[in-house]
Amino acid sequence: MSTFSAPKGTYDLIPPESETFLAVREAIAAPLRRAGYGYIETPGFEHTELFARGVGESTDIVTKEMYTLTTKGGTELALRPEGTASVLRAALQRNLHRGALPVKLWYSGSYYRYERPQAGRYRHFSQVGAEALGAEDPALDAELIILAVDAYRSLGLRNFRLLLNSLGDRECRPVYRAVLQDFLRGLDLDEETRRRIDINPLRVLDDKREEVQKQLDGAPMMRDHLCDACREYHEQVRSLLTAAGVEFTDDPKLVRGLDYYTRTTFEFVHDGLGSQSAVGGGGRYDGLSEMIGGPALPSVGWALGVDRTVLALKAEGVETEVPARTEVFAVPLGEEARRALFSVVTELRRAGVAADFAFGGKGMKNAMKSANRSGARYAVVAGERDLAEGQVQLKDLDSGDQNPVALESVVTTIKEKLQ
Ligand code: HAM
Repeated sequence: MSTFSAPKGTYDLIPPESETFLAVREAIAAPLRRAGYGYIETPGFEHTELFARGVGESTDIVTKEMYTLTTKGGTELALRPEGTASVLRAALQRNLHRGALPVKLWYSGSYYRYERPQAGRYRHFSQVGAEALGAEDPALDAELIILAVDAYRSLGLRNFRLLLNSLGDRECRPVYRAVLQDFLRGLDLDEETRRRIDINPLRVLDDKREEVQKQLDGAPMMRDHLCDACREYHEQVRSLLTAAGVEFTDDPKLVRGLDYYTRTTFEFVHDGLGSQSAVGGGGRYDGLSEMIGGPALPSVGWALGVDRTVLALKAEGVETEVPARTEVFAVPLGEEARRALFSVVTELRRAGVAADFAFGGKGMKNAMKSANRSGARYAVVAGERDLAEGQVQLKDLDSGDQNPVALESVVTTIKEKLQ
């Protein structure tokens, strides 16, 4: 071990598990690409103010969980805790919203939250996300949810559930908020929760403590206070999902931890993960653009947690396909053979065959050990005598059979045998 280890709440992705992460990212991206979402990449850090205004001054993410820093020039920056505010900032800055709408974008990357680490909750984690900017259409909300479901299904994930809610809009939410505040003020709550009633009363519904949940039984729910437009919108999303064969559970207490949501909100949960059960989540955020100084740009999106999706696959015992391992391993004996077989390996790779080489000047015994460990089907072995005769030895590592093959045709022969 070195003097250093990875910081608390982070972990290294190493082979072979790292392949599962790549497979998950690719499986989530594939349906998005087919649906016309373009890839976007934004910086790992932004102006702190973007998240304060976008995600919300009173959220845990902004008040407790952001990694912030002041540059030598005095600029306040934050490592991105999420992707939505950044993607919208980039779209506005690059004038994407002046073209055809909706602008459909997807992204994949690292996010940072200073949370208390536990199974499934890290300080550095990975998301694949999608945002559809500039259209208010229940079909767009449904499209995104269906694409996430299709991604999970394509990975072979079965035991996930979709929780669905509507948080209303700027018409009906303030009215509901006031009704909820009245109700909450009558409860027996601690000091901090009381403060939350003033700042962000909906978050109280999400309190995990049993003594709080017990008192919330008769709490007024947003769904009973939706205005006609919001109710109609939500019904359309629900019926589009049903028509697409997507099951969901209505969850009137689902509020999510970010302040920008309006109308449709949803979360994917997996029951094999313990307390950190949310594998993904998202919703509509019709007011976010204006909150960060842009024009009205009703939008919807989601982000799926890659780390937790991998844990969910493990919990279900699902094996993701591993890409081709080494198929051919070259074992040279002597300097001349090193040069000849190094060229063979290069040619094999250029011909699309996964090939590796006994690096480090190993002796025959160790080199053959590496060949076997690599999982290769064939070893190409050559010494000075073979080369003098213009040939190499092709060894089938499964059967142990070994046959001479002309050096100049070894690539073609191997290609044929592998087919
Ligand atoms: P979020 O619910 O905060 O939403 O995060 C989405 C997913 O990221 C979670 O469901 C979870 O799987 C994963 N995640 C979050 N925090 C952690 C953590 N500390 N460790 C491991 N995984 C984590 C958002 O980030 C919104 N930007 C989603 C969105 C996009 N809404 C609209 N567009």
